[in-house]
Amino acid sequence: MIKKKKVLILAVVLMVVMLVVVVSGNEVAPNVFSPSRLAGYTGLQGTPAYIAVSGKVYDVTESPFFQDGLHFGYQAGQELTKETEASPHGLAIMSRLEPIGVYVELELTKEELAVFDGRSGQPGYIAVNGLIYDVSHSARWRNGLHNSYRAGQDLTVAIERSPHGTATLSRMPLVGVLVQE
Ligand code: HEM
Ligand code: HEM
Repeated sequence: MIKKKKVLILAVVLMVVMLVVVVSGNEVAPNVFSPSRLAGYTGLQGTPAYIAVSGKVYDVTESPFFQDGLHFGYQAGQELTKETEASPHGLAIMSRLEPIGVYVELELTKEELAVFDGRSGQPGYIAVNGLIYDVSHSARWRNGLHNSYRAGQDLTVAIERSPHGTATLSRMPLVGVLVQE
């Protein structure tokens, strides 16, 4: 009997810990890279070498053409679409590699996100689990309002508790990541 109780308590504690981990904010999906995140993958000092081209992220760590992340004067850890386009091989070279993730330019703090509330001609952006989605074109988010939820906020907890959960997000364009100030 006591043993059963102990197992139950342990299970409850474990569930609470898991919930806290899931809910506690800005854990960005592993395959989404913003400028500041990508900057950690220069190929220098033993870090992997990642580059972003045309909205996709590629791992060039093992490429013989990117020793220490350096390629004809270009260092990995950056967005290099224009540079690749202007290079002798052009963008076509990228088809040799498989993308490992997606690149988004926009980084907003919670305060900056608040501007994008869908009112007064502003786009409507919502943040869920550290990612920012554009709901401006959704008929269900007219003027940034949806079932009394207002855009311009982190709605992670609210969407997880909603009838549809996070499934509806796959239809909304991913536009950025939420960052700490
Ligand atoms: C002056 C600029 C550049 C020059 C002269 C240059 C030249 C080259 C050369 C000679 C190769 C090897 C081609 C081959 O194996 O047939 C190569 C491969 C490659 N380049 Fe560039 N490149 C330039 C800029 C860039 C930029 C800005 C990027 C984007 C980050 C880029 C991405 C790549 C990739 C992904 C490969 C393939 C690597 C592999 O297969 O392991 N290049 N480049
Ligand atoms: C009580 C709360 C909520 C209710 C009753 C509700 C209800 C609905 C319904 C009925 C739909 C259309 C069905 C569907 O597309 O699957 C929908 C779509 C959607 N909801 Fe909610 N929702 C709630 C909260 C939220 C929250 C908090 C978010 C926050 C991020 C959210 C985000 C979305 C999105 C992104 C769509 C897709 C819109 C589209 O496809 O144009 N919902 N919701």
